[in-house]
Amino acid sequence: MNLFLKILRLLPPEIAHKIALDLLSLSYKFGILSFIFRKPNDENCSFAGMDLSNRLGTAAGLDKNGDYIDCLGALGFGFLEVGTVTPMPQYGNPKPRVFRNFDENSIINRLGFNNRGVDRLVKNLKSRSFDGIVGVNVGANKNSNDEERINDYLHCIEKVHKYADYITVNVSSPNTPNLRNLQNDANLLNLVSKVDKLVNKLQIKIPLFLKISPDENNITIENIIEIVKNSIFSGIVATNTTIDKTSLSNIKYKNIEGGLSGEPLMKKSTEMIELINTKANKTIPIIGVGGVMNREDYLEKITSGAGLVQIYTGFVLKGPNIVSQILPD
Ligand SMILES: Cc1cc2nc3c(=O)[nH]c(=O)nc-3n(C[C@H](O)[C@H](O)[C@H](O)COP(=O)(O)O)c2cc1C
Repeated sequence: MNLFLKILRLLPPEIAHKIALDLLSLSYKFGILSFIFRKPNDENCSFAGMDLSNRLGTAAGLDKNGDYIDCLGALGFGFLEVGTVTPMPQYGNPKPRVFRNFDENSIINRLGFNNRGVDRLVKNLKSRSFDGIVGVNVGANKNSNDEERINDYLHCIEKVHKYADYITVNVSSPNTPNLRNLQNDANLLNLVSKVDKLVNKLQIKIPLFLKISPDENNITIENIIEIVKNSIFSGIVATNTTIDKTSLSNIKYKNIEGGLSGEPLMKKSTEMIELINTKANKTIPIIGVGGVMNREDYLEKITSGAGLVQIYTGFVLKGPNIVSQILPD
């Protein structure tokens, strides 16, 4: 591990995250990023009607406000998913709310959709230079209830659709109370039918995805598949973090509240991709995410049925070189 990553490990997680991304951004602005990190060769592909330079992207949460689109794009990702964004800016849950478990290559977070609001994100989308694919992950404000939550998703879709290449509707964060209930049959039908109506009204042509949790049972997954198949949604992002900590060995982390990501999530999220692929007869495009730490994991996601693959924890713990490790020449 290089000295810089070692220093970042000594800093509180959110400060380390900001410093690392600010330095990437500075290196990009001074034109030295490409000398520090090797950009992978293009492996052009298409997915859900989008043309991409490769199948590897960043997962939502890494760049919540779209402040780092150009420098992340310059690292050679085929696509970036920014957000989760909500209509109004919000602070999120009280700190501490991110816990890195270096020994088990994992993170537990309970950030709670901290972000600067959709208008700020739109501003950043408009001014980006990165010409690769940028998806926007949309969510609901913590204080919105029931029907207001649905309106939050609609509001964000309406604001971002002209400036995004795809949109992900996030109903699977464990850190906004009851948000995951939106995955249940009647609630999801209600949400999806309202999104359908909006998409038709505004003639939105970009693909939409539903981001799901790895903690749902087979019946819920079957319902989700049926609803997605009968809607304007193009596919599924599988998966978000898990609240199941049984795969962790270190007892200290088992009792920390929040969503677990990284290596201990790999098996569970890959099984979810396989399940969706089998039950949907390979008809639903899947963006696979959860626990990818190296090229082997990346290839496993693809053989399990993912058309595109995202990383978050692997990028944070291993640094930007992970891009060229996953996509070698
Ligand atoms: C600190 C942190 C913040 C996250 N924030 C979001 C978010 O805002 N929206 C979202 O859909 N997923 C969010 N995620 C989940 C990731 O997008 C991803 O689904 C999950 O971490 C599994 O991938 P990984 O094992 O590669 O990290 C977050 C994950 C982490 C670790």
